[in-house]
Amino acid sequence: MPRLIADRPFLKLTSELGQVMAAARVREQTGARVLHLERGEPDFGTPAHIVEALAAAARAGETHYPDARGSLAFRQTLVEKLERENGIRCEPDDVTITQGGTHALFLAFQSLLGPGDELLVLSPHWMAIPKLVSLSHGARYRTMPAYLDAMEGTLAPGALASRLRGALAPETRGIYLNTPNNPTGAVLSREALAEIAAVAVERDLWVVSDEAYEHLLFDGYRHVSVASFPGMAERTVSVFTFSKSYAMTGWRLGYAVSPPALRPVLGPLLSFYTTHGVFPSVQSAGRAAVKGPQDAVETMRRAYQERRDLLLAGLSGQDAVRVPTPRGAFYAFANVEAVRAGRDIWDLVREWLDLGVAVLPGTAFGPENRDWVRMSLATRREDVAEAARILRAHVAAAPRAGVRAG
Ligand SMILES: Cc1ncc(COP(=O)(O)O)c(C=O)c1O
Repeated sequence: MPRLIADRPFLKLTSELGQVMAAARVREQTGARVLHLERGEPDFGTPAHIVEALAAAARAGETHYPDARGSLAFRQTLVEKLERENGIRCEPDDVTITQGGTHALFLAFQSLLGPGDELLVLSPHWMAIPKLVSLSHGARYRTMPAYLDAMEGTLAPGALASRLRGALAPETRGIYLNTPNNPTGAVLSREALAEIAAVAVERDLWVVSDEAYEHLLFDGYRHVSVASFPGMAERTVSVFTFSKSYAMTGWRLGYAVSPPALRPVLGPLLSFYTTHGVFPSVQSAGRAAVKGPQDAVETMRRAYQERRDLLLAGLSGQDAVRVPTPRGAFYAFANVEAVRAGRDIWDLVREWLDLGVAVLPGTAFGPENRDWVRMSLATRREDVAEAARILRAHVAAAPRAGVRAG
């Protein structure tokens, strides 16, 4: 029998999210209720004016083959947005419209990584990253812890740069970063990004900057794009998506901004031969999203922050489930070392599911995160508050082996 493509180890599909969702469904089928804190999908509808723009564009006949790079009008709109909001100066030919952020990352890794290359991935990291790297000609990835320290404020100035220098290997081609971060909610400071930028320039590395949550920051924190630092635009592929900012997950709309050296590669080659571009009416709707009123974005941001506050308040005053304050995205990453008490993290996830609270094990975001779980705030505020109440009562009642302070 010919060798099946799925025989290659890196193509084995494992999905912790799929496992938790399946287990939650089994419970729901028995009539029991589940509070869904495992999913990372906005629970809001797409703003009405964006939906209307799609309908109008489709009625006007924007239904034919697209330019694989994206329409010039949309790319021009994004050039203006990138300069205004991200401090990135580029030209329409540097922007490629993609089928969501995932596709933009796929194109970035395809263009930058080859066999034997390695990508240094700051961790914990979004669970799709290892697969997207492996699909890039079998390239490898290695992780370097960053976000938990950033979130807990335990990184001294210069520490991130020296950690990076220590982690780089001769085969390292680039660094992947993601701020605000999924799953921790950490936001990298301007100083931390400056350190990453300095090492990238010093060692002549690519940077892939995943800015999927660029509009979801709390407590006055500001988003900074690493490509805006001197010397970075020529070595950074910045990735953006409409999924989170505008609650447009199903529309599959995102974009990559890349240096001029990649102009012939990303749009005309990789986008053309993977998807042949994005439905033109969806692009017009995306243009309406960027040019139109932004109050829906702000309403959603506030809602996530309010839910974050509810979760933190609901779990305050106990130290069994310790939640460092997320400053962005819509997740809380909770330390459960004390309640895991040496068990497999899945035992704890199942125990909580039996209480009706679905969360994702931290191991979904790197095997070293076995003392953590991710709780999504992209669910109703009542459910977030109820989940916190249930967990608080549960840990108060349960005997524990050891308690970590904080
Ligand atoms: C960090 C991060 N990057 C990129 C994406 C890609 O999102 P999409 O493909 O829906 O644009 C996600 C989605 O969850 C994410 O969490």
